[in-house]
Amino acid sequence: DWNSGNVIAEQVERIREQVGSGRVISALSGGVDSAVSTALVHKAVGDKLTAIFVDHGLLRKGEREQVENDYVASTGVRLITVDARERFLEALAGVSDPEQKRKIIGREFIRAFEQAERDLMAEAAADGEPIRFLVQGTLYPDVVESGGGAGTANIKSHHNVGGLPEDLQFELIEPLRTLFKDEVRAIGRELGLPEAIVGRQPFPGPGLGIRIVGEVTADRLEILRDADAIARAELTKAGLDAEIWQCPVVLLADVRSVGVQGDGRTYGHPIVLRPVSSEDAMTADWTRLPYDVLSKISNRITNEVREVNRVVLDVTSKPPGTIEWE
Ligand code: XMP
Repeated sequence: DWNSGNVIAEQVERIREQVGSGRVISALSGGVDSAVSTALVHKAVGDKLTAIFVDHGLLRKGEREQVENDYVASTGVRLITVDARERFLEALAGVSDPEQKRKIIGREFIRAFEQAERDLMAEAAADGEPIRFLVQGTLYPDVVESGGGAGTANIKSHHNVGGLPEDLQFELIEPLRTLFKDEVRAIGRELGLPEAIVGRQPFPGPGLGIRIVGEVTADRLEILRDADAIARAELTKAGLDAEIWQCPVVLLADVRSVGVQGDGRTYGHPIVLRPVSSEDAMTADWTRLPYDVLSKISNRITNEVREVNRVVLDVTSKPPGTIEWE
C-alpha cells in the first residue's frame, strides 16, 4: 500500500542507479513539483545536483527568499539564482497582448536557464564530470494529458513556462511520473520541505506578468505585489486557503477611476480579486468569501497601496471566464 517513505526509498535507489557518475541540473520554479523532484534527486545524489532558479521578476512577494533561504535550508540543495529581472522587463516593454507576453516570458526563461547551464558546463568540464541529466517535475496527469506527444488543443498557450526546450541534450530524471499532486505534497512533507512551498496553490509560470492587464512595468509589478501579498495574508489568516483553489489578484493597469482618499481626489487603478473553487482548473466557480474578509482585504489594499483606489470582486464562473484574466 501507498506510503511516502517507501516511494522515497524506491526513487532514491532508482535515481542513484540512473545517474551513476555524471552531474545533474534542475530548474526550480518555486512550485511544488520542481521543489519535490529536486529534493528527491538531491537526497539520492547530493552535490552532484545543482539547482537553477531564474528570478524573472514576476514572482510574488517573498517567493525568491522562500526558495533561496527556506528551501535551501531544509534540503541542502546547491542553488544558483539567475537574476534576470532586468532582462525580462526589457523584453516585455511595450507588450500588452497576453499570448505575446507568454511567448516572451517562455523564451527569456530558456535563455536565462541556458546561460546558467553553460556556466555550469564549463565548471563541470574543468573537473571532468559532464552534466548528463536534467530533473523534470512531470506528474502522472501531465503524462496522461500529453498523450504520448499528441498536442492538446489549449485555449491559451499553456506551454509550460519553466518548460525547457526539447532539444536539450540531457537524459531526463522524472521521479514523480507515476504520482498525483496529493502524493507529491505528501512526499514533500516527508522530506521536510517548507509548508509554504509544499502547500502552495497553483501559480502560473508566467507569474504576475499575466496578472497585469496591460504593459508590464517595474512600478506596476510593485503595486500588484503589494496588493497580492495583502490579499494572500488575509485569506490565510481567515483560514480559507483550503477552501480556495487559487485567488489571482489582478491589476487593471490601463483602467483608472476617480476616488477620494485622505483629503483629495485620486485617479487610481482597480485591483480585481478572483477567488475560485475548483477540482482541476478545467472548470471553476467563484468562491463565496465572507464579506468581512473581503472588506478587510479591500480596506487594507486601498489604505496601504497608494496607487489603488478601488477593489472589485470577480463573480464569474469558468466557463465562461477563465481563472486568469489573461
Ligand atoms: P485558466 O486561466 O486557463 O487557468 O482558467 C487554468 C489554470 O492554469 C493556470 N495557468 C497557467 N499555468 N502557464 C502556467 O504554468 C500559463 O501560461 C498559465 N495560464 C494559466 C492558472 O493559474 C490556472 O491554475
